[in-house]
This record gives sequence, structure tokens and C-alpha cells, in this order.
Amino acid sequence: MTSQKITASASGTWKLGDLTVHRIGFGAMRLPQHGEALADGAVPRDRDRAIRVLRRAVELGVNHIDTAAFYFSPLRSANELINRALAPYPDDLVIATKVGPGRDPSGRWLPHATPGQLRGQVEENLRQLGRDHLDVVNLRIVGDGSIAERFGALAELREAGLVRHVGLSNVRPHHLAEAQAIAPVVCVQNMYGIGAPSEQRELLDLCGRQRLAFVPFYSIAGAGRTAGATADHDPRVRAVARAHGVSAAQVRLAWTLHQGAHVLAIPGTGDLGHLAQNVAAGSLRLSEAELAALDSAAGGDGPRAS
Ligand SMILES: NC(=O)c1ccc[n+]([C@@H]2O[C@H](COP(=O)([O-])OP(=O)(O)OC[C@H]3O[C@@H](n4cnc5c(N)ncnc54)[C@H](OP(=O)(O)O)[C@@H]3O)[C@@H](O)[C@H]2O)c1
Repeated sequence: MTSQKITASASGTWKLGDLTVHRIGFGAMRLPQHGEALADGAVPRDRDRAIRVLRRAVELGVNHIDTAAFYFSPLRSANELINRALAPYPDDLVIATKVGPGRDPSGRWLPHATPGQLRGQVEENLRQLGRDHLDVVNLRIVGDGSIAERFGALAELREAGLVRHVGLSNVRPHHLAEAQAIAPVVCVQNMYGIGAPSEQRELLDLCGRQRLAFVPFYSIAGAGRTAGATADHDPRVRAVARAHGVSAAQVRLAWTLHQGAHVLAIPGTGDLGHLAQNVAAGSLRLSEAELAALDSAAGGDGPRAS
């Protein structure tokens, strides 16, 4: 696969509300630092290099970038990098951000924002990105309790025009139902990928039935989570990668995209070569036999959404 020539359009499109995006997007969490994200003592990434990655992503057709005000290292902020690299923003670029539990300026996690504090978090994203409204804002949840008040506060910001569309992250099915009684939800962003336990599949399938975007994170990193990807891949992943002449990371992304037309990918990287590979993974077509082998590598047994 000649990664350099393949653009994000090869992955197809999906709609976030009225905004059309290519199914291969980009996650900005890896940009502010080298190594583990959100870690104490993280080493800031070279600014010019991070900016090159963002500009190259857009050149390769990426028009969906996931970010958050809490993606920062001591000297870099993902939102500032996006602003510096891409403003004035292309008309078709959709920037999705997250609110919920933030981090204080030294990087320590704070408790979940109260409904009243969510407006400040939205405004913080607006200032950093240099925009007057946000395309998509996900309410990121920690815990299992009711989200009605917090989601209601976000829905009010949507009514006020600060936010165009709202979504959810780290949620369970009852959260989705609770939110949908308040305002339309355009996406769910949860952890998912090869090797994920089968209960994590529930929301992917639920979103598919409702034709909502399901936007998994850690599709490459898997159990490495904030620490990132390891070179340790299941032999079935390596076998499929060998057969197609691609990397294991590309197979992991392609498998994710094959789980349903409503599944979007937001792989994170600070590496130009990895970026090109990730975009190219959107053109990789896996056979039924390969998908079945990878499903068992994942331990998944649920029906595949169309
Ligand atoms: N809602 C939430 O709670 C939540 C939580 C976590 C993340 N997110 C979002 O989801 C996005 C995706 O998560 P993630 O950044 O962990 O992405 P990921 O794509 O699952 O994994 C990124 C890791 O894989 C490596 N990598 C990327 N492309 C590669 C390739 N082609 N070959 C080999 N290694 C590769 C990266 O290192 P290199 O930099 O060396 O490429 C990094 O270590 C984040 O950027 C963030 O926007 C949301």
C-alpha cells in the first residue's frame, strides 16, 4: 500500500448532525508531548513538528479532528497547536472537543465540572481554538450517575449558539437514552478496538441501530491507553498485516472501520509516517475470513453492524 498517495476520502463519509466528515479523522491527544499523554513531567513535543503533522493531516483530507482543552503538556496545548496550524480553518473542517472533568494548570485532574462550570469550559475551548462556536462538544462522563443536569446545561449552550452539535463520551446505554430525552446526540465517543471486551460493543451496535456516529478511541493503543501503542500484537493481527503488506496498527484501524459504516476513527499520532499510514488504513478492505479471525483475536462474538 503506497500510503503517501491515499487520502481520507478512501474511508468514506459519515454525518455528524449536518456536518459531513471522512471516516478517518485525527485525535490530537498525542500532539502536546512525547510518550505518555496526560502524564506528570511529560516532555513537550517540538511545536513546528506538531504543526506539520496537523497541516499534513488536512492535506491528506482529514476533516474531523478530536481535541480537548485538557490535552496539554507543560509547554504545549493541543488546541493552541490546532489554532496555530490550521486557522483560518478550512470550511469543511469539523473540530470536536470534550468537556467534563478538566485539569488544573499544573495538570492535576479536577472533579467533574458542575453544570454551571461547563459554560466556562466551552468558552475556554473557544478562546484556545480562536472560534466563535464549536462544531461538536462531547460531554465526557466519569461514573455511572445521572447526566441530565450536565447534559441539559450543554444543550442550553447549543440553544445559545455557542455549540452546534452535542455528543457523549465514556457512556453507557442508559446515559444515551437520558441525553436523547433532552437534546439530539450526534455521536458517542467510547473506547473500542481489537481486544475490547464484548460489553464495550453494546454502544457501537446501539449507535448503529440509531444511525449515530460511534467514534472509538484507543483503537490502536488498546490496553496501552494513555501510554500508547506497543509492538506486541496478536499473531492474527500480524498475519493479516503480512498478507496485505501493511502494519499491525493499520489492521487495527481497518478492523474498527469495518464494524459499521457509522464507526469513525480518530487515531492519534505525532509522527508523519504514522499519520500517512493511518489515513491509508481507510482504504484497506478486509475479507470476511480476515474479519472473523480478527474478531476472535478481539474475543468479540456480536453481529457486525452494516
Ligand atoms: N473521550 C475520551 O475519554 C478519550 C480518551 C482517550 C483519547 N481520546 C481521543 O481519541 C484519540 C485516539 O486515541 P489515541 O491518541 O490513544 O490513539 P490511538 O490511535 O489508539 O493510539 C495512539 C498510539 O499509537 C501510536 N500510533 C499511531 N499511529 C500509529 C501507526 N500507524 N503505527 C504505529 N503506532 C502508531 C501513537 O504513537 P506515535 O505518536 O508514535 O504514532 C500512540 O502511541 C485521542 O488522540 C483523543 O483525541 C478520547
